[in-house]
Amino acid sequence: MPSDIPDMEYVAQMLLVGNPLIEPVDRAAIQALQLPPGSRGLDAGCGIGLQALLLAEAVGPAGHVTGLDLSPELLVYAKDVVKKAGLSKRVSFREGDVSNLPFDDDTFDWAWSKDCVGYGIGPEPLALVKELARVVKPDGSVAILSWSSEKLLPGHPVLEARLNATSSGIAPFVQGEKPELHFSRALGWFRDAGLAEPTARTFVGDAHAPLADDLRSAFIALFQMRWSGVESELTQEDWAEYQRLCLPESPDLIIDHPDYYAFFTYSMFHGKVAE
Ligand SMILES: C[S@@+](CC[C@H](N)C(=O)[O-])C[C@H]1O[C@@H](n2cnc3c(N)ncnc32)[C@H](O)[C@@H]1O
Repeated sequence: MPSDIPDMEYVAQMLLVGNPLIEPVDRAAIQALQLPPGSRGLDAGCGIGLQALLLAEAVGPAGHVTGLDLSPELLVYAKDVVKKAGLSKRVSFREGDVSNLPFDDDTFDWAWSKDCVGYGIGPEPLALVKELARVVKPDGSVAILSWSSEKLLPGHPVLEARLNATSSGIAPFVQGEKPELHFSRALGWFRDAGLAEPTARTFVGDAHAPLADDLRSAFIALFQMRWSGVESELTQEDWAEYQRLCLPESPDLIIDHPDYYAFFTYSMFHGKVAE
């Protein structure tokens, strides 16, 4: 990305282009939640509404999903996505901040947040989990899902480890931050927020050659997002190797190798609001 200020058009494009790779994982995680048919839920940090659609499908025609996001620009995309899917009656959107949700206590049957709560949003993830729990009815559920690991460069484990050790590779975690603030420690946030039966589950996405065009584009976008601006943190040799394997214009682009295979994980933390 060209500057530190998020360009929402760029964010929307990245979410859209990455979706063919990520959607099967979103579907598996949502299916695992077993959301009650007819229930009403919140998608906090809904972005362009891609999971709001899946959540609406999961709760069926009698259910409802409210997507909330800080970005009015992304909500314009989200409304369009939902309209095109013919689900505008079952999904509505609201501009707002997850740290101060514009909803009364006990409004929803469940709350969900993907790559938002606990994933680099706000200084204190515990407060955000408590805020999600506040708007969910007793016995309802809270779930947060985020990217948690990957093997995207088969045959190049050292380069991949070095890329993942850069500031971009560990983002949104920041070196020197308290370990308890890392997404993988979310069980503690759920426990401290008073949520019952906290659980952690891992969902795997994968792909292998030959890749269809939409998956090729998704991987190119993923490489860009995972390891952007890392040149100054690598040796010249590693930077050159990264460019050779990961830039779309390279004749050695790794995703075009006939043996290409990659996988990644998302982790979901879930808990119930005490009765
Ligand atoms: C990485 S995107 C994920 C979007 C969507 N959940 C997905 O996975 O496709 C993070 C989203 O969180 C939103 N966001 C960031 N801070 C927020 C806040 N304080 N309150 C509400 N939304 C926020 C961003 O605008 C963005 O849409």
